[in-house]
Amino acid sequence: MTRESPYDRLLTRVRAGATVVNLASHEWQRVRGLALGLARDLGLPLRAWSQSAGLCALDERGRVEVLDEAATDPVEVLRGIVAAGPEMPAFAEGGAVLLMEDVHPFLDHHPVVRWVREACHVAQEPRRVVLLATLGGPLPADLAKEVPTVEIPLPGPDDLRRVLRAVAAEQGVGLAADDEPLIDAARGLTVMEARLAFGAAAVRLGHLGLAAVPEVAAEKKHVIRRQRALSFEEADATLDDVGGLERVKRWLSVRRLAFGADARAYGVEAPRGILLLGVPGGGKSLLARVVARSWRLPLLRFDPGAVFAGIVGESEQNVREALRVAEALAPCVLWIDEIEKGLSGVGSSGQTDGGTAARVVGTLLSWMQDRTAPVFVVATANRIDMLPPELLRKGRFDEIFFVDLPTAAERRQILAIHLRRRGRDPADFDLEGLAAATAGFTGAELEQAVREALVDAFAEGVEVADAHILASARATWPLSRTMGDQLDALRRWARARARMAGAGEPEALPARGGGVPVLRQEAANPFIPQAGSAGREA
Ligand SMILES: Nc1ncnc2c1ncn2[C@@H]1O[C@H](COP(=O)(O)OP(=O)(O)O)[C@@H](O)[C@H]1O
Ligand SMILES: [Mg+2]
Repeated sequence: MTRESPYDRLLTRVRAGATVVNLASHEWQRVRGLALGLARDLGLPLRAWSQSAGLCALDERGRVEVLDEAATDPVEVLRGIVAAGPEMPAFAEGGAVLLMEDVHPFLDHHPVVRWVREACHVAQEPRRVVLLATLGGPLPADLAKEVPTVEIPLPGPDDLRRVLRAVAAEQGVGLAADDEPLIDAARGLTVMEARLAFGAAAVRLGHLGLAAVPEVAAEKKHVIRRQRALSFEEADATLDDVGGLERVKRWLSVRRLAFGADARAYGVEAPRGILLLGVPGGGKSLLARVVARSWRLPLLRFDPGAVFAGIVGESEQNVREALRVAEALAPCVLWIDEIEKGLSGVGSSGQTDGGTAARVVGTLLSWMQDRTAPVFVVATANRIDMLPPELLRKGRFDEIFFVDLPTAAERRQILAIHLRRRGRDPADFDLEGLAAATAGFTGAELEQAVREALVDAFAEGVEVADAHILASARATWPLSRTMGDQLDALRRWARARARMAGAGEPEALPARGGGVPVLRQEAANPFIPQAGSAGREA
């Protein structure tokens, strides 16, 4: 007996009259594939909405045409399809399949829920289907009753075969007549991971015959252990998960269009990359994941440190290969997290590496300068003093953004995001007061304060309130207090060389004093003497 495929389950629900279906998956490509299939089988046009792209039309090959970039409000779009009238031209012809991508952050807003429920009850004529693409968390209770969920499991052999053929065609390499062993080797991978595994084997061997099986199997091990120079990351964060950092967000949404095939045909050069520099916990890694998600590109993480891990002398070769694989998978986002660590690690370890580190840096830099494939590099760094100066030279990145501590307004946004993520309504909290009490806190520290407040309140058996957050914030010395001088230097440097990532003016840090600051990670370490017991300097 063959298992019912996710597509069969979707089609069954829709044939039974469901007008709204929840598709739960991290793999947006497959969700789009299902939506395309459904639209084709129903003979309806496919529209896709996401907050970052607005309202788009997808043709039968999945090519995207932006219809209304200003349609960023999910309520407006839901009303449009429910009305199926002249208010929204995209739905004026009546029937349509509407795919609402990354809609989960909106499903706790009352008006959105209300309009989703309206959509559940629209007439069958003209035929309208709304597909909610979510990451698989539970739906709010009042939607769960009305909206069926189709879970999308890992790809089956047929999906993997489709990926394999696509990779072979893109790379122009030959394929084994019997592809079963290759497909088996790739089982357990997501579609994107399978692409990486097949792509890497194709680049290395020049074919996808049977000799590629061990390559794919090895690649799978690496993907699973995530210890190689290149791995796929699930890009599960959207622009709404980022508080503040308005200037980067704006920069990115303008560049999104310039990255498409249309833009290339028009003669617009694809953006090359950005360097995000700033305090640890400021949301730099978060932004890297957001870029990939909102541009709908695969996210490849490149770990420059890992290229040194192999056999001595192979490091350069490893970098070249990783970069070639990234190019083979373009368009994609190549994320180099904490680039300063990877690029300075070997030289400082005191080993006689015969200039390997320098050559690896050189390889990476010249690739960044010369590459033509649309690979968008997002590099993050916490420190400038460890960065090779050549990296900062013009032409390597389109922009260098400095991620400063969040301003009071940004702290309010960040607190609201993390309260909402834990099912709390930010309106129940005094965000103003909390933001005032957390000057100098990074986004990560704000999240930590919210997380601990929940733990404390739960232990007390009460609902979490302002007081819990205030108490946990007071118990924290934010990193910025102990690295004040370092931060000042970073800010001075950034003012001259980088663009500010946030829209607000940076605040002065709260006055230091009140004893020896203890970092959270120090406080948690039982081997560090308690504050006051020794004249310890930060
Ligand atoms: N601006 C922000 N908005 C919302 N959450 C944030 C922000 N900055 C940090 N966070 C939270 O802190 C976590 C850690 O931040 P991260 O992106 O790893 O910081 P960095 O890479 O700059 O050190 C994030 O995953 C997110 O949950
Ligand atoms: Mg980081």
